[in-house]
Amino acid sequence: MTDAIYIHIPFCINRCQYCDFLSFKSTPNKRREYVEYLKKEIKLSTRFEYDTVYFGGGTPSLLDPREVEEILELLNVKRNAEVTLEVNPKSVDFEKLRAFRDAGINRLSIGVQSFDPHYLKLIGRLHTDIEAEEIYRDARKAGFDNISLDLMFSLPGQSIEDVKRDLVKITELRPEHISIYSLIWEEGTPLYDRLVNGELKETDNEIEAKMYEFIIDFLKSKGYIHYEVSNFSLPGKEARHNTKYWENKEYLGAGLGASGYIGNQRYKNAVNFEDYYGKIDNNEKPYEQVEEVNEKEKEEYRYILGLRLLEKGVEAEGEYINKCLELEKKGYLIRKSGRYILTPKGLMVANNVFEEFIG
Ligand SMILES: C[S@@+](CC[C@H](N)C(=O)[O-])C[C@H]1O[C@@H](n2cnc3c(N)ncnc32)[C@H](O)[C@@H]1O
Ligand code: SF4
Repeated sequence: MTDAIYIHIPFCINRCQYCDFLSFKSTPNKRREYVEYLKKEIKLSTRFEYDTVYFGGGTPSLLDPREVEEILELLNVKRNAEVTLEVNPKSVDFEKLRAFRDAGINRLSIGVQSFDPHYLKLIGRLHTDIEAEEIYRDARKAGFDNISLDLMFSLPGQSIEDVKRDLVKITELRPEHISIYSLIWEEGTPLYDRLVNGELKETDNEIEAKMYEFIIDFLKSKGYIHYEVSNFSLPGKEARHNTKYWENKEYLGAGLGASGYIGNQRYKNAVNFEDYYGKIDNNEKPYEQVEEVNEKEKEEYRYILGLRLLEKGVEAEGEYINKCLELEKKGYLIRKSGRYILTPKGLMVANNVFEEFIG
């Protein structure tokens, strides 16, 4: 039963140097128009009862809180649901945060990326470290008791000492949840161009691995649980919505370019406004791509996604039992309460382990 919805808001004030997410500059009128179409799309979908709602982007916090409220009013949101909004510090202030809270948002995921002014500038963030911290404190004052902060590491020129300073700062702030991603050099981004023209350098693989190990040890020592490859939380504060993805559960995706997984179908919405609006004007679901997932693919997804959950892992079944035993012998997986989880050695080469389940 589907009880999760992802809503994509494809607008940002400005594009960060490293980012290739589906997002555009906008005006309040463009955003208003988009919200009207989003509401129409939601009305075209089956009316599920939602236990988790996730506004992702782009920068959903660019929306007017009343627009978020209008969208939420259309959804059948369960009591005690987790309702998350991604926030860019530059797009909000205390009043706006309070209005989001009044609109029904009860969890924030704030993009901080670094607390070091040098790296913030280098990767094209519009906010300073001080502004990011102020927004976090404003969010607390506005009543948010479930906040996630995003950090990035392996930034060009970054040392383990630099990473440590970010970790000291973030753990002092004590958010309930921390997502920490190593920089992906996405082709076509300004940062990538600066790599190609020799202006910037990639972090050495060994140093990146050391940074990751350091991050894990540091955050664990501060009471955070490393429950997913890139995600840490205080006990009981795991991201409920994202955990459904990793558990291969169904979810609805709404908005430009959003993906969804319903029944045996994985779909992706149109990625340009003309197609997206055109289909909705015809009372059609704005799909660009629909893919039937067969039993074998479903199983593959179950392992690849499930093994990302470092505490919970997956139960081995059928033809995959031998594969798990083989990976256990090699020291990449270990059995815990009848399920398989990645070992620390497996975690360091997680993508290679996941590949073993494809094909
Ligand atoms: C949609 S953004 C979060 C909200 C808001 N747009 C912001 O950036 O403040 C999702 C997160 O993905 C991560 N991210 C985006 N592009 C990345 C890349 N190329 N490499 C690693 N992490 C990336 C960043 O940590 C970012 O906070
Ligand atoms: S990282 Fe966030 S704010 Fe920056 S361009 Fe990507 S989606 Fe927009």
